[in-house]
Amino acid sequence: MKNKTRKARFCYRQPKLRSNFQKLNIGVFASHGGSDLQAIIDGCAAGKIPARVCVVISNNGDSQALQRAQDAGIPAFHLSAKSVRRGADNATNSPISPTSPSSPDALAEKIHETLTAHEADIIFLAGYLKKIPDNVLETYSGRIFNIHPSLLPKFGGRGMFGINVHAAVLAAGETQTGITIHRVTTEYDAGDILAQRIVPVLAGDTPEILAARVLAQEHIFLVEFLAELLQK
Ligand code: GRF
Repeated sequence: MKNKTRKARFCYRQPKLRSNFQKLNIGVFASHGGSDLQAIIDGCAAGKIPARVCVVISNNGDSQALQRAQDAGIPAFHLSAKSVRRGADNATNSPISPTSPSSPDALAEKIHETLTAHEADIIFLAGYLKKIPDNVLETYSGRIFNIHPSLLPKFGGRGMFGINVHAAVLAAGETQTGITIHRVTTEYDAGDILAQRIVPVLAGDTPEILAARVLAQEHIFLVEFLAELLQK
């Protein structure tokens, strides 16, 4: 079946270019495997996305995303309440000043500082399971995007992440599912929907099989989305 791309209100605010000659900087957040991050890195390297990944942040020190970033020579940081409390940023290749106080504010400050220190122009959440702090939402208003593995508003919100999403799609007897890219707000999966792609549900699908089909499409879709977003 041919995949369809539905574009809804493709009217995001343009990120401000730092100079006509510099590439746009994407800050990526990821929590686990980082295969979406890898698709972005590869899309940039291949010239399909006119940008570069300037920094990767993960709440999970064991996330493969950190390793993928390091392999690509991209500054990568494990920033969580715990890591900030320890004053250890776990930067894989770029130290930043440690923050000692332990509080949500200290973590929010650290995340904000890391993004601005690396001159992120836009932010892409590629499988990031935490909420984005208010200070970052404010600074990057309209310039933070998330990819979600369902056709939102279906199968989104609290608890709808990873395999849970695909299990819920199958339990509901859906014949199609898909991918949504949306703007990020204070609520999970709730911002303006910018683009969607349909992925079929097939007879015999398990949550794992469906998850793999959707993820494979994500890698293509998010490169197409970012290419179009940043070329305008
Ligand atoms: C993707 O399915 C994405 O839609 C969701 O988290 C998953 C990330 O996968 N938000 P990976 O860690 O990039 O492999």
